Amino acid sequence: MITQTANFERIRRLIQCQRLIRLAQNPTNVRYVKEACARIGLKAGDRVIDIGCGPAGALLPLAEVVGPSGMVVGLDRNDDVVNLARQVVTQRGLDQVKIVHADLDEFGEQHGYPDGSFDAAYCRLVLFNQRDPAAMLQRIAATVRPGGYVVAHEVLDDPDYPRFEPPVPGFSKFRHWFNECLRQQGRSPGVARMLSTLAEEAGLREISRQGLIDANLASAVDFIQEQGLNLLLVFKPSILLYGLATADEIEALAAEFRKATAVSYKFFLSWIMVEWIAQKPEQ
Ligand SMILES: C[S@@+](CC[C@H](N)C(=O)[O-])C[C@H]1O[C@@H](n2cnc3c(N)ncnc32)[C@H](O)[C@@H]1O
Repeated sequence: MITQTANFERIRRLIQCQRLIRLAQNPTNVRYVKEACARIGLKAGDRVIDIGCGPAGALLPLAEVVGPSGMVVGLDRNDDVVNLARQVVTQRGLDQVKIVHADLDEFGEQHGYPDGSFDAAYCRLVLFNQRDPAAMLQRIAATVRPGGYVVAHEVLDDPDYPRFEPPVPGFSKFRHWFNECLRQQGRSPGVARMLSTLAEEAGLREISRQGLIDANLASAVDFIQEQGLNLLLVFKPSILLYGLATADEIEALAAEFRKATAVSYKFFLSWIMVEWIAQKPEQ
């Protein structure tokens, strides 16, 4: 029984890593990163940190923007994903990317990066995972120099998105379960709505905030597979643990998602990714 549980946990972690690698390679997400870099004027030779980079994060587009004369640090506290990120970077021969295995709370001088080392900090899907996103944002802000930027991409916790025609009604149920799991774990599914307030607490000046939506019909089925079916598998143990649904109800939703991947859609709007940019005041 213990072996079975351990095996399931290993598979669950594998699915999550593969999901994150595909998320990182998704052309829409790559474009979001590059557009954010253009908005803050990040350029060749600059230094940027991807906080909570996971197995690939934004490392590749960031490395492209800063080029071989620049520097990208990918920081993550999870050793599985750090090993994968190191493989990704080595395979591509990206000497300008360094992967650091540490919690942001312990990251800094001892790793060779005192506060203020970076021109910009990027984080995607990291703040919503935090118990104290205000403290996390303060630590993120500390990594950038005066005049430097913080960029966050966080999903809005709105159960009305994604939308499909014909509809996939199970998505709003799943988003409810997902947000509730995070809440029960003390995390912050509503963080995308709080960013302006958090910015003030972190001493940052908000520059822009906008919602990004993928409306490309060709993305619809992939979205259901990744953000429906695969994410449901990742969250299944938590959904059961918090009594949000039974195993049969989860299986019924998985069956609905599987069926929905065979449909040809006339209309699709992804969930809303909030892009938030703030600047650290010049001293
Ligand atoms: C949902 S994943 C997102 C990964 C990546 N940003 C992406 O978009 O694919 C969140 C990642 O943040 C990392 N993380 C969360 N809190 C962290 C902290 N305090 N210090 C370092 N890494 C952290 C987790 O280990 C995890 O790999």
